[in-house]
Amino acid sequence: MAQTKSIHGEWSSRFAYILAATGSAVGLGNIWKFPYITGENGGGAFVLVYLACVLAIGIPIMIAETMMGRRGRQSPINTLSTLSQEANANKNWHYLGWLGVIAGILILSYYSVIAGWAIAYVFKAIFGGFSADAAIVKSSFDDLIASPWQLLFWHSLFMIATISVVMRGVKGGLEKAVQLLMPALLVILLILVAYAMTTGEYYFQGLSFMFSPDFSEIDSDAILTAMGHAFFTLGLGMGAIMVYGSYLPSGVSIVKTSLYIAGADTVVALLAGIAIFPLVFANGLEPGSGPGLIFQTLPIAFGNMTGGWLFGILFFVLLVFAALTSSISLVEPMVAWLVENKELSRVKASVMSGVFIWALGVAVAFSFNIWSGFKIFDKTIFDFLDYLTANLMLPIGGFCIAFFAGWIMQQKDVKDELDLPEQQYKTWKFLACYIAPAAVFIVFLHVLGLF
Ligand code: PHE
Repeated sequence: MAQTKSIHGEWSSRFAYILAATGSAVGLGNIWKFPYITGENGGGAFVLVYLACVLAIGIPIMIAETMMGRRGRQSPINTLSTLSQEANANKNWHYLGWLGVIAGILILSYYSVIAGWAIAYVFKAIFGGFSADAAIVKSSFDDLIASPWQLLFWHSLFMIATISVVMRGVKGGLEKAVQLLMPALLVILLILVAYAMTTGEYYFQGLSFMFSPDFSEIDSDAILTAMGHAFFTLGLGMGAIMVYGSYLPSGVSIVKTSLYIAGADTVVALLAGIAIFPLVFANGLEPGSGPGLIFQTLPIAFGNMTGGWLFGILFFVLLVFAALTSSISLVEPMVAWLVENKELSRVKASVMSGVFIWALGVAVAFSFNIWSGFKIFDKTIFDFLDYLTANLMLPIGGFCIAFFAGWIMQQKDVKDELDLPEQQYKTWKFLACYIAPAAVFIVFLHVLGLF
């Protein structure tokens, strides 16, 4: 029988959980990745597919994943063992937990490098490095990523920060970090949107780029990227929300909290896009210029606006914190497992995981400069890891989670955990059993050219 409380502790309230889970969802995915992949994939149609994926696939899977976590009350690997036993199912389901742990390690290895760029920009902002001139801003970004040592330094700093939070555990570390930072991030994004409005016609050009869909702009790979991003940005398919769900007190509504979290995450991503694209057009930049997009646009805004020095510092500080509240959820499944199975202290487990991920991150940092010629399937190490995790591992993980919750678990247990009126339960079940897995499957077939 499942435990009633996790050995790692519990969130102190429903609100604390919402903040932490929103912290996990809102991160570089919303502010750094969403704008640049939207730019690379032609805008409106891509945004629409992404929104459809969040609604039809993301939210039902988020509910399923959180529900499984709360019922199992352990790291994703052990939760899956317990739940498959409870359902008299095959023991091998715990490998799904492993898939998640590995995806978390791989994602964090590059996530930390990008978060390192954001830390570097805090210092650029402080020392007045932001200029109103797009060319200067671009070359300053190019200089940063061309330097292996700088990237290594900032990446190391970010990993140290992540591990020092995770070490402190559920209440002490994870909760405290998010309470102030999330609302502050929202305020500064609104300031940036207000600034984007001052660009006049470019503001409308930006809006129309994001919201008028032209389906000739997207192909099957763009659809896969949009779907993969729905998983990435909500933090689904790898056990992050499962392990957070395992610290969720009984009685809190999983459906309501999931809706808040997904709603907040989507709003932040859209605001980031609305703030960035007008600047891209106003400065004659390319929407498809890749992972450097926000680092090549936002400094121009800060260089131009009154008070830009202060807002620039604030923005990048908050971006680093948004990344931190996500990165801690990326290692938490691994740390929880090490504590449960290897009887390590939380501190030891955190440090070991951190060192391992840091070492992988070194290769990612070098893939932007000295190792940029090294390709796996025609992709740099960074591009490869991003594609492998976001486009393949998370959707596969999410597919299996939906399948497990909908088809393997005994539905009386699921009902017990979700505690929903019959009609709402049926809606969720329909989405989780049929729509979400089918959608993932069809997108995969489409990419393989089979559909
Ligand atoms: N959702 C986070 C972001 O958008 C990244 C993340 C992915 C977190 C997977 C947890 C799990 O930045």
